[in-house]
This record gives sequence, C-alpha cells and structure tokens, in this order.
Amino acid sequence: MDELRQLLANNRDWAERIRASDPAFFSRLAKQQTPRFLWIGCSDSRVPANQITGLQPGEVFVHRNVANLVPGEDLNSHSVIQYAVDALGVRHVIVCGHYGCGGVLASLRGERVGLVDYWLSSVHALRDRHASELAALPDETSRHARLCELNVVEQVGKLSRTLVVRRAWEQGRPLFLHGWIYDVADGLLRDLGVTVDAPPAGGD
Ligand code: CO
Repeated sequence: MDELRQLLANNRDWAERIRASDPAFFSRLAKQQTPRFLWIGCSDSRVPANQITGLQPGEVFVHRNVANLVPGEDLNSHSVIQYAVDALGVRHVIVCGHYGCGGVLASLRGERVGLVDYWLSSVHALRDRHASELAALPDETSRHARLCELNVVEQVGKLSRTLVVRRAWEQGRPLFLHGWIYDVADGLLRDLGVTVDAPPAGGD
C-alpha cells in the first residue's frame, strides 16, 4: 500500500505548491470550469492530456478510451462531446492519437484480446478499408504508424458528422475539430492537418 500512500502524499504536495503560487486557484475553479478545449485521446498512460500540452486544471475537458475512438453507439464519448460542445461551449475538439498505440496494433495484427476486440471493431473496419495502402508499406512499424494516423483522421470525420457538431455549426458557433498525433518516443505532438470548422462541402 506504500505506493498508494505515495500518491496521496504527492497530491498534498501538489495542492500546496499550487496554493503557494496562486492562493485563489482552487476556490476560483470550484465555482466553475470554462475549458476551451475538449481532448479525445487514448487511455495509454504515456499520453496524459494536461501534461503534454502544459494545461492546468480547468483548461481542458478530457475523454480517453482505448485507441481514442468515438463509435456512433458509444454513449460515453458522445455524452462527453455533447456536454463539452453544448454546455461548456468548447471551441476546439482535439482528437489525439499516438504512435505505438496498443489498441491499434492489436487490430493491425488481428489479435484476440477479449472484450476490447469488440471495442476495436471500427478500427478493424478501417484497417480493412485501407488494406492496400497498408500492405504497400515496408514493415509492420510503418503500417502501425499509418493506421494510428488513419484512425485519428477517421475519428475527426465521424465527429464532423455528429448531430451535436453539425448543430453547433448550423447555429454559427465557432467549433474546430483537429486531428493530432503524439509520439511516445519523442514527446512531441504533430498536427495531422485535418482541421475542420464546417460541414464537408456537398455532405448530406
Ligand atoms: Co493507445
């Protein structure tokens, strides 16, 4: 249990350091949160949203799951998105994948892991849709990296077609959807350049 006691001790130190530099920090945050960003990332312990973006408590609303997915039938992620967009009025939704994603690799390899296989079914479909592009790459490392990127682009596309996002755009609320990828090997984020702030032209 020592390791858990350590967490609580860490927490007391952390809160004390914040209070020392900004005595009103917690009382101010207790009144309300007004984050400008919604982060949709992977549960992977190496990709902590606040730390890698230098954001403080109160600055980013976070949803994380295995392989940073927004499956249409997933009540959890879509409740988060709706609350962030409609109630909190976030301006930016960042879907952040990461190289080395275990969920994406399991899908690439067709591995059976358990319940998570079902969760990853949309990644399996994406893998199959891009089978020829992936097969043309020289090795598994590059296929894995590419599928991680494709997965982010796919989630941004899905978000852009959700009712919540489309309604925000129809009502003229500024809302940008971004696709980023994080490299656990160098700690750097990369913008995949798929930002959208309006429905796709000619869309349904
Ligand atoms: Co991952």
